[in-house]
Amino acid sequence: MAEFLSNLKRTKMCGEFRSSDIGKKVTAYGFVAKYRNLGSIQFVDLRDRTGILQLSFVQAEHPEVYEKSTRIRNEFVIAIVGTVQPRGEKNINKNLPTGEVEVIVEELRILSEADTPPFAISDLANVGETMRYKYRYLDLRRNSLQYYLITRAKLAQVVNNYLSKRGFLNIETPILGKSTPEGARDYLVPSRVHPSSFYALPQSPQLYKQLLMISGFDRYYQIAKCFRDEDLRANRQPEFTQIDIEMSYVDKITDVMYEVEGLVREIFKEIKGIKLPRHFRQLKYKDAMNRYGSDKPDTRFGLELQDVTKLVKGCGFSVFDNATKRGYSVRAINAKGLSKMTRKEIDSYQEVVREYGAKGLAYISIKEEGISSPIQKFFTPEKFNELISYLGGEKGDILFFVADKNKVVYDALGALRLAIAKKNNMIDESVYDILWVTDFPLYEYDEEEKRLVAMHHPFTSPKNEHLKYLDKNPLKVCAKAYDLVINGQEAGGGSIRINDRDIQRKMFEMISLTEQDINERFGYFVEAFNYGVPPHGGLALGFDRMVMLLTGTDNIKDVIAFPKNQAAIGLMEDCPSTVEQKQLNELGIKF
Ligand code: AMO
Ligand code: AMP
Repeated sequence: MAEFLSNLKRTKMCGEFRSSDIGKKVTAYGFVAKYRNLGSIQFVDLRDRTGILQLSFVQAEHPEVYEKSTRIRNEFVIAIVGTVQPRGEKNINKNLPTGEVEVIVEELRILSEADTPPFAISDLANVGETMRYKYRYLDLRRNSLQYYLITRAKLAQVVNNYLSKRGFLNIETPILGKSTPEGARDYLVPSRVHPSSFYALPQSPQLYKQLLMISGFDRYYQIAKCFRDEDLRANRQPEFTQIDIEMSYVDKITDVMYEVEGLVREIFKEIKGIKLPRHFRQLKYKDAMNRYGSDKPDTRFGLELQDVTKLVKGCGFSVFDNATKRGYSVRAINAKGLSKMTRKEIDSYQEVVREYGAKGLAYISIKEEGISSPIQKFFTPEKFNELISYLGGEKGDILFFVADKNKVVYDALGALRLAIAKKNNMIDESVYDILWVTDFPLYEYDEEEKRLVAMHHPFTSPKNEHLKYLDKNPLKVCAKAYDLVINGQEAGGGSIRINDRDIQRKMFEMISLTEQDINERFGYFVEAFNYGVPPHGGLALGFDRMVMLLTGTDNIKDVIAFPKNQAAIGLMEDCPSTVEQKQLNELGIKF
């Protein structure tokens, strides 16, 4: 039977004991991480979230306690009273902060016994994902996961402290709300009281935070839960968290960027001890796409894209010729010094670009012993040499080409850049590469729906000087929007908002919303624009993504206590799941 803690008060956490405690009588609690019985003495590693404390049960000194300790197994929860002693010179463990001491146990209470866990609680154990998530509470006992979640808690604290100091008010917004337009599918909650009506879980608090500006709160923030039903990736969860910020009386993008730079600097200083510059670099969307093929470029390495469309016009290679005729582009990457890569590696890159819709990956490998290229035969020697020299190709380099629609070329070569850099260890993981991407187009054309859609969301303000293109050339209009990119990840995004009712209405019309759509979806919001709207703007940082960047994991599930798997299933609690017929009846739902 489990024993009681009763009067036992913890002296301190396991990982906090030091040689300055030697001679003191102490009480400690924790899980048994390991036990070793050497005959007349039993050692136990006692674990809590701060670290490991070594316990010794010595038969000669406390025979009954020793006897009881032989029942101990891994993951038992125990409390002990004992005296802190120095470890013998030979037994000092330099790898542990508590490595110079041990506690000679005088009293043992077994608070909870434990079955043998389904896997070893150790960062070294190689455990399959299904097991880890089914027994997430055991998985979370591991050192690395404790570190991720402790960092997450610290981040929340730094954010709360900093933003309140800067005059931002923490205000909660509804979880049961109305559909918001961040571009993913909504999670819906049926209403029992109003059959066939639904609440939508917020994809972000976007409209609420703008309404709070209209209410006069001036500066708002919230560490907010968001819900998006979209395809999951290594850095995407259906339920995630944002550091959501909005402020009034701003109309230049730099007004918001300044505050966010301050916050991000504080985060890196407090959590990593890293001093970031006062301002972060800015890169225009167009340049990001042309140079890196991505609006979230990783600029820790080169391998920049080069446009050879003009040069290959009429070159004789049908793939390139057809592309230029159709108004597509042909772009290239010069992978300097990598001509020695194997055929297998080149083939693996073919697969990478195909994933993004490219039909092939042409290359010119300039080896010591001569050129190897499946496309050489299509070119005249002059044109071929011109192409190589335009791309700065030298002995030892390999040049890659993709010809297609711009979007495909960018996506394919953007992904190829990353794949080559990763495979060839070209990324310096010790530096944080932070930049803003600005000057996004306000709209993009949706081929499927055959209409303009807002690139960020339809509350983003056009640049003042581009208002004049709104009617005649809307794709030319740039937005007052900005994304924060850290190490090639979109860490955050935001914009200066529209605060003029006519422009807001125009924006909805441009994306083909009818009067009825506008009224049904955003009627309350549009109406608020009649009663005084301060100029305002804001941004949301991906909270989970920040924790990933700060801890160096590339899996978002590591930084969320109870995440969903790739199929959006909670394996531990088994959700989503069916519900009782009675509940469905109450909601008026039939299958
Ligand atoms: P946006 O949609 O760009 O902007 O989201 C802001 C940031 O949230 C993070 N993020 C995610 N993180 C994990 N899983 C997801 N599924 C996921 N989706 C987004 C990203 C992203 O940069 N309302 C606007 C903000 C604004 O305009 O103020 C918004 O939500 O790091
Ligand atoms: P083919 O003439 O189809 O054998 O193609 C010759 C080379 O061009 C092969 O290496 C293909 O991978 C490459 N290739 C085919 N289509 C494209 C494309 N759209 N862009 C770049 N390279 C391509």
